[in-house]
Amino acid sequence: MTAQLIDGNALSRQLRAEVKARAARLRAAGTTPGLAVVLVGDNPASQVYVRNKVKACEDAGLHSVLEKYDAALTEAELLARIDTLNRDPAIHGILVQLPLPPHIDDHKVIEAISPAKDVDGFHVASAGALLVGQPGFKPCTPYGCMKMLESIGMVDLRGKHAVVIGRSNIVGKPMALMLLAANATVTVCHSGTADLAHFTRDADVVVAAVGKRNVLTAGMVKPGAVVIDVGMNRDDGGKLCGDVDFAGVREVASHITPVPGGVGPMTITMLLVNTLEAAERAAA
Ligand code: GUN
Repeated sequence: MTAQLIDGNALSRQLRAEVKARAARLRAAGTTPGLAVVLVGDNPASQVYVRNKVKACEDAGLHSVLEKYDAALTEAELLARIDTLNRDPAIHGILVQLPLPPHIDDHKVIEAISPAKDVDGFHVASAGALLVGQPGFKPCTPYGCMKMLESIGMVDLRGKHAVVIGRSNIVGKPMALMLLAANATVTVCHSGTADLAHFTRDADVVVAAVGKRNVLTAGMVKPGAVVIDVGMNRDDGGKLCGDVDFAGVREVASHITPVPGGVGPMTITMLLVNTLEAAERAAA
């Protein structure tokens, strides 16, 4: 069996069109959804990411402001800027691009963002809301993975075993909670899990989010499983690749997300969804 691709670009186009329509309705009612993107320093990857986020906002009819600061910005200055954005009624979402320069405490900065504007879903209040099943903002990457599962009809995962490989605060842990909320039986593994294949071979859904090539190979996958690849790596030829041995696993899985064109575009899409939702809540 050759797996069907779950096309993150196509699903993103569809979801972004919905965001655009909802944003137009909100604008007509007097509220323009606004996102502030804050970048400190000149990390080249971060510069590309924030440019893409701002462009995606423009395309969807959201207002965005990109605030770029020199790497020498102090923590106190950044916290003061966030305080101002928290109180700015034209701004509904605040995103501080990570990583921050080493003299700034990421955690302190994230906690300074109002939970009502935490469209990255990184605040402790957002993480807590997800844990206890209360409304809050979900981290964009795992939220996008859930939408990809929904797009192939996997909404209620009762009776299904989902294995998450990776336990970061921004992907692995929230992913596990969202899968649990969808009634899956969830196992969280990491790159150091002994006999990882023992777990993955039993899984109906595998989400790989380690940041290392070939974490998941064909022999580790149950025939017919659904495989979501969150990884973003480079192969020996410098080509973008995920955590999954795509060529091998696609011959075993029923559905698989490609890299590029899979989870990647969904992350920004869910940022737009969260920003729109923040604006809708503020306007309600
Ligand atoms: N750096 C890498 N990914 C992300 C993300 O999703 N949000 C923020 N704020 N920074 C990041």
